Amino acid sequence: MDRLANKVAIVFGAGPNIGGTIAYFLAREGASVVVSDISLSAAEETVDFIRGKGFTAHPVRGNATVEADVRAIVAETVATFGRVDIAVNMAGRVHFAHLLEMDMADWNESVLSFPTAGLLTTRYTAQAMIEGGHGGSIIHLLSTAAHFGEADATAYTSSKAALLSFARSAAMDLAHYGIRVNTVTPCSMEHQLWTLMRDEVLDPEWQRPERLGFYSREDYLKMLPLGRFPRASDLAWATVFLASDEAEIITGIDIPVDAGLRHKYPTWTPGDHNGTNIRDFVANTRITRFGEPHEKLIPEPRPVGAGSDPISQE
Ligand SMILES: NC(=O)c1ccc[n+]([C@@H]2O[C@H](COP(=O)([O-])OP(=O)(O)OC[C@H]3O[C@@H](n4cnc5c(N)ncnc54)[C@H](O)[C@@H]3O)[C@@H](O)[C@H]2O)c1
Repeated sequence: MDRLANKVAIVFGAGPNIGGTIAYFLAREGASVVVSDISLSAAEETVDFIRGKGFTAHPVRGNATVEADVRAIVAETVATFGRVDIAVNMAGRVHFAHLLEMDMADWNESVLSFPTAGLLTTRYTAQAMIEGGHGGSIIHLLSTAAHFGEADATAYTSSKAALLSFARSAAMDLAHYGIRVNTVTPCSMEHQLWTLMRDEVLDPEWQRPERLGFYSREDYLKMLPLGRFPRASDLAWATVFLASDEAEIITGIDIPVDAGLRHKYPTWTPGDHNGTNIRDFVANTRITRFGEPHEKLIPEPRPVGAGSDPISQE
């Protein structure tokens, strides 16, 4: 548990889902972690958890798409812990709409958000590494949206694809300084099942919407050769590796954390042949939070018309 001993990390967008889990795993490996989020309460929730486990973390509020905020977050990190060795960034705005109905303000904000956070977090953390006279590791979180055409998602796919290209070029700009830049690509995550996709998987009366870009969780799960959605902890393990000296010769790459989705033959649907279905998957899966079991098991589908739902307390 000391793969990152004596290192200092900043996680941008570190509320208690993916970013918070990555922050916890970095801290557990010995790093001192600045937990930064546009929402101070989200950052504090993650920090409370990490400190509760006996590791070192410090919360900072800031918008990773705003230059003054990123500069201040990096300055506060150096003031608090003396240096920066690792930066992990996942901040940005997700926006879904059909291109024929795209609002220009939404387009401009969404398309710019991920690569802008990419540029600012890379520039200011790299500057701190260079001034500190040492190298470092910078990791950006992508999405399958960076690699595939996706209906109703031109703003999101454009933004994540731009971040992918940015990261590759940043790796070239910074190689001379011993600073590595890599990306991690998750597909649709398991925690979405307990939040956004709750009704789809738990409500027996649920109806598939008519939206063009919509795919059901059942369809998605059947496409995964390894037969399960990734968890935040799966991303955190990949990030710990890229952040550590174990990856000191690795730069400019992308690690897919996607159960084999990106590299399978596109028209092969593994789940059609092995009985995979979303109800069995949900019934046999534990909710995790910060990579640790959180609730014993997923509740039974709620009766039609029932009011309270324990999962919505998450
Ligand atoms: N959830 C998924 O299924 C999924 C799939 C593929 C990729 N991703 C990517 O993973 C990353 C995190 O996803 P998540 O599910 O944990 O989302 P989330 O919304 O739960 O967490 C994102 C965090 O980033 C913060 N944030 C947003 N904009 C910010 C900004 N401008 N500056 C600073 N903080 C900001 C939010 O407050 C939040 O705490 C995102 O980049 C997302 O695109 C998620």
